[in-house]
Amino acid sequence: MVRSRSRPTTSGFLLLLVALSRSSALEVSPDSPCAPKCLDNPNGNVSDVDSSKTFNYNLACHDWEYMGDNSTQVGQKFKDCNNCLKSSEYIDTASDERDVEWFLFNNRGTVDWCLFGRFDNEKDKNITGSSIYKQCKNDCDAIYTSADYTIKKDPASYSFCDYDGNFTADADTCLSCLRKQDGLSILGNILETVQDLCKQKPGRVYDFPDNQEIYTTTPITLSATSSTSPSASPSPSPTPSSGLSTGGIVGIALAGVALVLGVILYFLRKRKNKNKSKQMAVAQGENGYGNLNTHGPGYGAPAGNYAYNPMAQSQKERYAHQPPIANVEQPGPAELGAQRPVTELPGGDVPGPIRH
Ligand SMILES: *[C@@H]1O[C@H](CO)[C@@H](O)[C@H](O)[C@H]1NC(C)=O
Ligand SMILES: *[C@@H]1O[C@H](CO)[C@@H](O)[C@H](O)[C@H]1NC(C)=O
Ligand SMILES: *[C@@H]1O[C@H](CO)[C@@H](O)[C@H](O)[C@H]1NC(C)=O
Ligand SMILES: *[C@@H]1O[C@H](CO)[C@@H](O)[C@H](O)[C@H]1NC(C)=O
Repeated sequence: MVRSRSRPTTSGFLLLLVALSRSSALEVSPDSPCAPKCLDNPNGNVSDVDSSKTFNYNLACHDWEYMGDNSTQVGQKFKDCNNCLKSSEYIDTASDERDVEWFLFNNRGTVDWCLFGRFDNEKDKNITGSSIYKQCKNDCDAIYTSADYTIKKDPASYSFCDYDGNFTADADTCLSCLRKQDGLSILGNILETVQDLCKQKPGRVYDFPDNQEIYTTTPITLSATSSTSPSASPSPSPTPSSGLSTGGIVGIALAGVALVLGVILYFLRKRKNKNKSKQMAVAQGENGYGNLNTHGPGYGAPAGNYAYNPMAQSQKERYAHQPPIANVEQPGPAELGAQRPVTELPGGDVPGPIRH
């Protein structure tokens, strides 16, 4: 704003006006203790829901924007505000806005904007020229749809987590790509946090480890997302955890059906050669159950799975945990961003309201 050095004063003044009218605040709950860190003007009206909105120009994609000599006010503010929102546990009773929901929203916004050049109605028409997009778009395709899903219409909702596959699982290849790039450690940490939020789905209190810091270049490791080994669910008995989603329930139901069918088929075969013991049926049933939750190479390996192999296999392939195979293995040459006609969105970068 002070760069009117070689410009006519009027244009400098206009720049200042534009900057002021764009008051760059981040979303925060009314009267939240974090408001001073999130609002543009710390003395602004912290009770007014309209004094805090997140637009794409409040988001920072690169490490250098958050820290170091060249860090920007946008990056530093994003960090301070969201570190506060993460642990404030604040709920505004009048509006039922929760700081943790705005923490989710702001970080999702960063993922959506930096990776795909979208933030609901806000679009980066030049996204195909972005180095992040060029490097990681293909690896991030699996979350292309879910990343933007109802992001402003329903910012508190976790429905995007299961909307198009399993966000936590599907974001892994994207995260690996970000981890390989220079200067995108913080964006990686942000994505990993969103994965973890999908896993935990906090309502008010987000259980985040004290010894980890999202907005620095040290990669974080969150328990929910560090399960790179496929043996994620070791116990075959489904404990009634509150976080069990529809996908999980369907999976367990399918496993149950497979188990029953397996046992039936097994006994049908048994009639032909009566010499084997009953216990094997049970053992095979348990194998089949475990396989439903395992993507490892061991699938189908156990001998004797003839009893229900086709059934179990076809059901496994429809299991909700798995990303669509076609998407992962054949990203296709067509770039979604390039295909989207610009004319579709005449408003271009025009920021819109967050609430409907
Ligand atoms: C601050 O915002 C609240 C909620 O919109 C409003 O009721 C109140 O009058 C505002 N206060 C001032 C000083 O503008
Ligand atoms: C800041 O920007 C200058 C000029 O682009 C660059 O030479 C310098 O290395 C940057 N510093 C950091 C810490 O990134
Ligand atoms: C889009 O990217 C190109 C190449 O990076 C750049 O020359 C151009 O100014 C950009 N356009 C806009 C509107 O930012
Ligand atoms: C999604 O994937 C994660 C990581 O693989 C897993 O822990 C979680 O249970 C899955 N969620 C659902 C609903 O399947």
